[in-house]
Amino acid sequence: MVTGTMSSEMWDAIWVDAGLATLDLGIAAPFGRIEDGVIAVKDGRIAHVGARDDLPRPVEHMAAVVHDAEGAWITPALIDCHTHIVHGGHRAREFDLRLQGASYAEISRSGVGIRSTVMATRAASFEDLLVSAARRLEPLVSEGVTVVEIKSGYGLDLDTELKMLEVARAIGERMPVTVVTTFLGAHAVPAEFDGDADRYIDFVCDEVLPAAVERGLVDQVDAFCEGIAFSPEQVGRVFDVARLFNLPIKLHAEQLSDLGGSILAAEAGALSCDHLEFVGPDGIDALARSGTVAVLLPGAFFVLGKTTKPPIAAFREAGVRMAVATDCNPGSSPVTSLLTTMNMACVLFGLTPEEALAGTTREAARALGLAAERGTLAVGKAADFVLWRIQDPAELSYRIGFNPRIEVIRAGAPTLI
Ligand code: NIG
Ligand code: FE
Repeated sequence: MVTGTMSSEMWDAIWVDAGLATLDLGIAAPFGRIEDGVIAVKDGRIAHVGARDDLPRPVEHMAAVVHDAEGAWITPALIDCHTHIVHGGHRAREFDLRLQGASYAEISRSGVGIRSTVMATRAASFEDLLVSAARRLEPLVSEGVTVVEIKSGYGLDLDTELKMLEVARAIGERMPVTVVTTFLGAHAVPAEFDGDADRYIDFVCDEVLPAAVERGLVDQVDAFCEGIAFSPEQVGRVFDVARLFNLPIKLHAEQLSDLGGSILAAEAGALSCDHLEFVGPDGIDALARSGTVAVLLPGAFFVLGKTTKPPIAAFREAGVRMAVATDCNPGSSPVTSLLTTMNMACVLFGLTPEEALAGTTREAARALGLAAERGTLAVGKAADFVLWRIQDPAELSYRIGFNPRIEVIRAGAPTLI
């Protein structure tokens, strides 16, 4: 039950004259919408969500502060559940090579690709990484993102993997976002382990992941399961260590080919499986059975000029939940707009605007294991929401290059952006 009240004491603040796109599955209307809605907060949490007409007393008697939303739409704050936003350098030259016909896999096999970002990230100072990541994060924050997942995976040595995760944690302290860190040591085989992926996986499992966990730097564990990266067997070894530490897992799977990574991940109870352009029927069934979220990354599909799309109709049919994220990274998805990514999810993959918004709120929260806390406008959840100057929530997916955000509320208070 979302429409309801936490207690009868005064709320800290209430917003009136708003459309609420609650995204709550308990409200049957599209977007879980409540047309003439009110939302109240107390102690940083949502204390009330409902129709204005259902309030028992005048608002002035119910909340210390009354905000007039002047007809704005309010949605849960956005969540970018898959990024590689901390990295050194850029890959504009590689972009040029791809435009001349080289494929992402060819570039990767020639030792450029991810490895060039690894060199740049190893060479960058903590401060350089922090400043460059903060610059890329700013446009996302300005679009109402209050939770961002940040992966390691461009260090591939002990010091740099730790440095990346420390930068990610520092971003959470210095910017108005909650950061979820993901250890992605198994992203690529670094040059010093060339031709010996198994020995590199030993190093990740025995040294790097335990050291990062010991320092409290790891919220989740990810890997890249692909011909140009790691086999399901190698990924399985990383997952075994994650399990020892009780850490949730997720996987980059079936982006360029179908190795069955999604089945491995689903059977291991992964929170999410990401990319999935090449997932087959068995993978889809496995994801549906385990409740693993399919994280769609249309930015990478677009930038790499791919033609094989993730099987959206089959996901719907099987009841696989779908999230949408930027995959912000220097190689395959130099994208720093979640609203544009929602548009791409609709235009390129065929999501509905409602699915796209659910994908960056409710389902993105689920992909990070935060569904109980975030992702919908519901009593008891963190009071993170966005006021938008739009006439219909579908507009968030419809326009390109336009940011209708009025204000971002985080833990019940307006953020300065
Ligand atoms: O999600 N697929 C693997 N990793 C990233 C790309 C990394 C890179 O090219 O730098 C991705 O697309
Ligand atoms: Fe990625």
